[in-house]
Amino acid sequence: NGNYEVTMIPGDGIGPEISKSVERVFAAAKVPIEWESVDVTPVIRNGRTVIPDDALHSIQKNTIALKGPLATPIGKGHVSLNLTLRRTFNLYANVRPCKSIVGYKTPYENVDTVLIRENTEGEYSGIEHEVVDGVVQSIKLITRQASERCARFAFEFARTTGRNHVTAVHKANIMKLSDGLFLSACQDLAAEFPDVKFDDILLDRACLHVTQDPTNFSNTVMVMPNLYGDILSDMCAGLIGGLGLTPSGNIGRDASIFESVHGTAPDIAGQDKANPTALLLSAVMMLRHMRLYEKADSIEAAVLKTISNGEVLTGDLGGRSTNTAFTNEIIKHL
Ligand code: IPM
Ligand code: MN
Repeated sequence: NGNYEVTMIPGDGIGPEISKSVERVFAAAKVPIEWESVDVTPVIRNGRTVIPDDALHSIQKNTIALKGPLATPIGKGHVSLNLTLRRTFNLYANVRPCKSIVGYKTPYENVDTVLIRENTEGEYSGIEHEVVDGVVQSIKLITRQASERCARFAFEFARTTGRNHVTAVHKANIMKLSDGLFLSACQDLAAEFPDVKFDDILLDRACLHVTQDPTNFSNTVMVMPNLYGDILSDMCAGLIGGLGLTPSGNIGRDASIFESVHGTAPDIAGQDKANPTALLLSAVMMLRHMRLYEKADSIEAAVLKTISNGEVLTGDLGGRSTNTAFTNEIIKHL
């Protein structure tokens, strides 16, 4: 029927509610997408966390997925499924933009950052062991191949979005080998993209500058190893109002998964209180990835207008409306 099929992973906690909201908005906007909903409750096979076959095959077949939050055990238990998905599908670049929403007041104005996080290795390699009692090692694995792949994505992104500037964020003063390799991969790519400006900054300094004046980073694309990207992206999200508002995309060669970065919010799950904005804006990012630009623009504008108007807002945004009412309001603005 000419429709695109896309995998939907509703996720845990508030996941089913916010994904429902995306489905409603997409239906109202007549987006030519059919959702294939899959469950990703972890399966342990030979002592390793794996994605259930249904979900695996669905993503392999459709190559595009939208994903809600998945609970991750802390300090014990199975490997995070979020990571397992990124690694299984080799989603090497994680794109995380943060843009101020007009009308939604935070201590910062005109924030417009884009951060690209290496997404398959670094501190997230999951290679950990106890050497002797009281001594453990967690390996930070960095390869030239993954660093270059991520850096290439950042340079292409900078070129196609017109930002035309890449800033590598690192601690090569301390991690001389691992971050040194990442930085040198970025420098090599810079030579291949002479039309894109390149510089680099130490991570701690980047944190200082971004909180002092985020507009310092308005015209660049920051690229960095995995853990730094995890932390700095939350910091940037904090500037515009938190993880309830920020989209993200995990990009690979054979598949891409778009996801909200916030948690499962078990305290409000099932109560129709959740804010679907982060997942909606991730879905907008997904539509642009699929080149469905008009649908993306119209849904994005409706979401932003609803928040700017400030009359129908969920609790986290300072309002008293339900997720359903908020979603209805977005649909009205389409
Ligand atoms: C994120 C999340 C994940 C991460 C968790 C849930 C495993 O914080 O996407 O930023 O650490 O990458
Ligand atoms: Mn995170």
